[in-house]
Amino acid sequence: MEVVPFNELSQVKKYRRLLIDVYLSAYADIPEYAYTSRGDIWHYLNWLFRRSRGGFFAVFCDGHLGGFVGADPEWLDLDQTKVGEIHELAIAREYQGRGVGSLLLARAVSFLAQWGHRRVGLWVGVNNHRAIEFYRRKGFVPGPVKGIWQRMYLDLSQVAQ
Ligand SMILES: CC(C)(COP(=O)(O)OP(=O)(O)OC[C@H]1O[C@@H](n2cnc3c(N)ncnc32)[C@H](O)[C@@H]1OP(=O)(O)O)[C@@H](O)C(=O)NCCC(=O)NCCS
Repeated sequence: MEVVPFNELSQVKKYRRLLIDVYLSAYADIPEYAYTSRGDIWHYLNWLFRRSRGGFFAVFCDGHLGGFVGADPEWLDLDQTKVGEIHELAIAREYQGRGVGSLLLARAVSFLAQWGHRRVGLWVGVNNHRAIEFYRRKGFVPGPVKGIWQRMYLDLSQVAQ
């Protein structure tokens, strides 16, 4: 498995079709937490890239795009304090359970730590039990719930980098 930073919009454009395929595959069982049209997903991927400032990473498994993560080093939390935000972590269904998500999450957390963040935040669907359990095992703790979304936080001062 190889983690590749997408630092140029041209990379996102080059892999447009595959990035959208990965996203649709990742959320096939939980469409209530995702965009479902390819146009909306493409718009979202562009937003994700613009926010990431070097925090957009993809994983290639034997040359195939297996998943991607989008981390945002300049996000404001609910209380308007700066937080390192993970906006997206999506692994194609056929690559789930093989350590791809763990690899990408670790890369995103380390990217945010390099920006000086002590805290990483994300929103996850309240009924997305698999992802919630995944983040819990990585040290995230639950924060507030807003509608269908559960906030989770990772305190980096408690985690060895
Ligand atoms: C939640 C999600 C990101 C997890 O990614 P994943 O690649 O399936 O996760 P991993 O394989 O790294 O870890 C899951 C478990 O698989 C197991 N596993 C199986 N094979 C493994 C391997 N070769 N290496 C490491 N772990 C492995 C481990 O038990 C691991 O548990 P851990 O958390 O204790 O390490 C992924 O399922 C996904 O994309 N879901 C749909 C989209 C989504 O919900 N995204 C999050 C939105 S906030």
